[in-house]
Amino acid sequence: MSRQSTKTDNKSIANKIFIRKEAIKDLKEVKVLDLFAGRNVLWSNIHTDKYFGIDIEEHKGQNLNADTREVFDTLDLSAFNVIDCDSYGIAFDLYKKLLTRKDLKKGTIILYTAITNEFTKIQNVAKKEFNFRHFYEKAPSLFNARAIEFFYEFLALNGIDEVFYYAIRDHFDKHYGYFIVK
Ligand SMILES: C[S@@+](CC[C@H](N)C(=O)[O-])C[C@H]1O[C@@H](n2cnc3c(N)ncnc32)[C@H](O)[C@@H]1O
Repeated sequence: MSRQSTKTDNKSIANKIFIRKEAIKDLKEVKVLDLFAGRNVLWSNIHTDKYFGIDIEEHKGQNLNADTREVFDTLDLSAFNVIDCDSYGIAFDLYKKLLTRKDLKKGTIILYTAITNEFTKIQNVAKKEFNFRHFYEKAPSLFNARAIEFFYEFLALNGIDEVFYYAIRDHFDKHYGYFIVK
């Protein structure tokens, strides 16, 4: 028997839509920047006043077809009050960039998907933040299994002390959540 791994775009659609509706329920206007927009499944089920999606895959949805990491620095974050980061894995690099950008407005809601297991590699930006690059190479699975703990610690180190989320555990640890920029 072989172990299989798939990247399914919206395995937990209902959960993801639920957390998004929760996150925006008190907003008067909903202006969404969707950094991993896919087929726009999540936001096409929710009323928005403005929506801008980006996806690396061509013809996948109504999106700018680009690598988010290539265009990120050119985006005007002040034009949005909701930023959706429904990535595969945990995009430590983008959270770092987001939380240090001057044009990110206070009150902006950042939605995250954090999915990991012992085989999911942690990005270098996180290894650097926690200074464990050397130890990581010796026993990656030990660190990978704790990636979500590192993620919350990483947010705290970057000024976010409160998150709202719920968690599911199957072959992966999956957290769907959001936080508000202070
Ligand atoms: C979990 S899916 C997002 C699904 C989306 N929320 C929806 O409603 O359909 C992740 C998406 O990220 C896209 N993706 C992966 N790497 C990317 C990158 N570097 N830049 C932009 N999009 C990327 C994939 O093509 C995929 O559509």
